[in-house]
Amino acid sequence: MKRGLFLTFEGMDGCGKSTQMRRLVDRLRGMRKTVLETAEPGGTPIGVQIRRILLAAANQELSPTAELLLYFAARAQNVDQWIEPALERGEIVIADRFTDSTMVYQGCGRGLGAETVLALDRIACRGLQPDLTLLLDIDLETSLARARARNAAAAHNETRMDEQSVEFHRQVREAYLALAEREKQRIRVIDGRAARDEVEAAIWRVVRPYVL
Ligand code: TYD
Repeated sequence: MKRGLFLTFEGMDGCGKSTQMRRLVDRLRGMRKTVLETAEPGGTPIGVQIRRILLAAANQELSPTAELLLYFAARAQNVDQWIEPALERGEIVIADRFTDSTMVYQGCGRGLGAETVLALDRIACRGLQPDLTLLLDIDLETSLARARARNAAAAHNETRMDEQSVEFHRQVREAYLALAEREKQRIRVIDGRAARDEVEAAIWRVVRPYVL
């Protein structure tokens, strides 16, 4: 059987990933494709427990290295339990974030370095890479404003990463764009500030050849 297709969504908080991922999944299911949706950190039940530690606003003392290892722990579980088996069954897997997030947030934002992230990626993902990554790019001000509005509206406590400095988020965006520049084949940048329907159409133009 043909191996499945692995797509990932990336971008800063508030870039519209969740909405666009929902629309793409619905469209593909409407075409009778079998799609596994997952998210990081989270995804599997064990990943959801790890997510609580990572994002709880109360966990301010979490060290950068512990943070890095926890993101990869959640990912290793996701790869072993869900992603690899689905790809082996020939399904489409769509993930909200993957190793590119760790590269930009921990490798760059936290300054832990690309080499460390790649070394852990080799252990956790064993060479598994997305076939295609959609990077929804928005400017820093829009990202911060949307994240703040969302956190205020939902009054949830998963804000530890959102609460990082403006400088941290600026570095994250630059790192994303630099990564996309280095991996033009795999990572496609989509303008996330356009209207939702336009973003959806732009994403579909990129994804279509992979699924038809
Ligand atoms: P996510 O659940 O995608 O939240 P949002 O809807 O705000 O994008 O991600 C939670 C946070 O975790 C987000 O601020 C990015 C961060 N993150 C990392 O720092 N490293 C990682 O490897 C991943 C997967 C996420």
